[in-house]
Parts: sequence; structure tokens; C-alpha cells
Amino acid sequence: MAKKKTIHDFYEMKKNGEKITFLTSYDFPTAQFAEAAGLDMLLVGDSLGMCVYGYSGTVPVVMDQMIFHANAVRRGAPNTFVIGDMPFMSYQSSLEKAVENAGRFLKEAECDAIKLEGGVRIVPQIKAIVEAGIVVMGHIGLTPQSSGQLGGHKAQGRTAETAKLVVEDALAVQSAGAQMILLEAIPPEIGAYIAKKSTIPALSIGAGPGCDGQLLIVSDLIGQFQAFTPKFVKKYCNVAETVTNAMRAYCADVRHGAFPAEEHCYRMLEGEERKFKDLMKTEG
Ligand code: KIV
Repeated sequence: MAKKKTIHDFYEMKKNGEKITFLTSYDFPTAQFAEAAGLDMLLVGDSLGMCVYGYSGTVPVVMDQMIFHANAVRRGAPNTFVIGDMPFMSYQSSLEKAVENAGRFLKEAECDAIKLEGGVRIVPQIKAIVEAGIVVMGHIGLTPQSSGQLGGHKAQGRTAETAKLVVEDALAVQSAGAQMILLEAIPPEIGAYIAKKSTIPALSIGAGPGCDGQLLIVSDLIGQFQAFTPKFVKKYCNVAETVTNAMRAYCADVRHGAFPAEEHCYRMLEGEERKFKDLMKTEG
């Protein structure tokens, strides 16, 4: 079994140009698969609101849900670096709340780090959480929790002026003490520029190949999430089709009496069926 990586390993990987593999995970079995597949990091993302709970966005997700899922992921992937994602309103309203909720991921789910959305405007929160001794991953570019302000789930930094703002966010997050940064849905030129300019690992989800590593949402990668498919997604299998076909085959077997078959039945012990029939006769 590979040794669990630490933040220092990720710095080393950035220095050596070795790409970091990063995937979301929300439950025990998927975390087991991810660890077996050799993922470097797992994000218990608030995208579970859409991928697991069927909400239309991430805003309704609350801290307790995140802790339950982070716990399951930790149990499934005990030797993988796990990051807990701070849900909407778990860090915006006060620094105390931000530190307390970040701490819950470590104390109650044994996460290795936390992630929170926002650049310049959440510098005080990042500083306070780092000050408490917690490894922080910043998240800039398209930030789904504030997609209302962004006018929807839209790529960011596509003009020179807005790209400059994204770079300013990245540098502010780094200066505040974040030890990693996630760049979502920005042009590859800007992703590569930030990765080169920053001293901390810059991970991409739709920020191009020039970043220090790549993140995908597991439900997209396995073809499970069906509501929409962002441009940055590559599907590696089609679980929705495979599972639906398996369920159809099960229904057909039950309807036609092909399931359960002899091998699925618990037979009575030798001679017990005759005794049972006698017993039932005497009972009347
Ligand atoms: O919750 C999540 O999975 C995320 C990704 C969209 C980056 O934050």
C-alpha cells in the first residue's frame, strides 16, 4: 500500500513537475475505489448536494451533511489525503464560525485539509483558519456557491481585465497562507500563468493542462450525474447506463421467475422438511 501523502509531498510534486491526481468522493465504497486506483487527494465536495442529494445547486448543503460524508470517505480511504469542502454560510458570516467549522472537518472526520471558495474577499477567513493550524485550499475562478453573483455557472477570466482579477485572487489566497489553490473554469492560458507564478500547488478543474494537477467530480467521471455535463468533463465510463441495464435485467428475471434460482435459496437441513410437514399436520 502506498504511503499517505502530505502537503509536503504535493509541494515536491509541483517542484518536480509531477501531476497531482485529485477526485471528489462522497461515500465509503467510492473512496475505497479511489484509494485502490491510487488517487493522490480526495475532495469531499459540496457538489454532493447535486450529485448525491439531487439539489439544483450547492447552496442548501449544511455542515452536518459534509461531516457525515467526510467520515465515510475517511473510512474508505484511510491512506489518502482528504479535503473537506466548507459549505455555503459555514465561513462567510464570521471568523469564529469559519475556524470552528473548519476544525470540525479535522476533529470529527479526520480530514487533512479544508477548501473554501473565494479570493480577495475571504482573505480574513483564510488567515484565521491557517492561524488555527489547518491546511487550507483556496478555490477561485468559477465559485459555484456565488454563481448567482456570477450570473450562472460560467467560465471566468476570459477577458484581459477579468483574467487580471482572477490572478489577483490567486495571489491574495496564497499570501493569506493557503497551501494549495483550486482554479475552476478559467482559460488554460490563465491557469498555466497562475501555476507558474504561485509557489503553492495550483490544481485545475477546467483550468487547462498547465496546472499542477487535475480534479474531476467523480459522478461526472463515471457517468453517474445526468443533469448536465460541463465542458471540462471527460467521462471514463457510463455507470448510469450500466446500472439501469442491470436493474432492467433484474426486473425481467423477477417477472419471469428466473430469479431467485436454486443457488440463491437456503434449503432446509437434511430430513427437516419431512419433520416440518409432520409437525404442521399435528398442529392441525
Ligand atoms: O464541491 C465540489 O466538488 C467543488 C468542485 C466543483 C471544485 O467544489
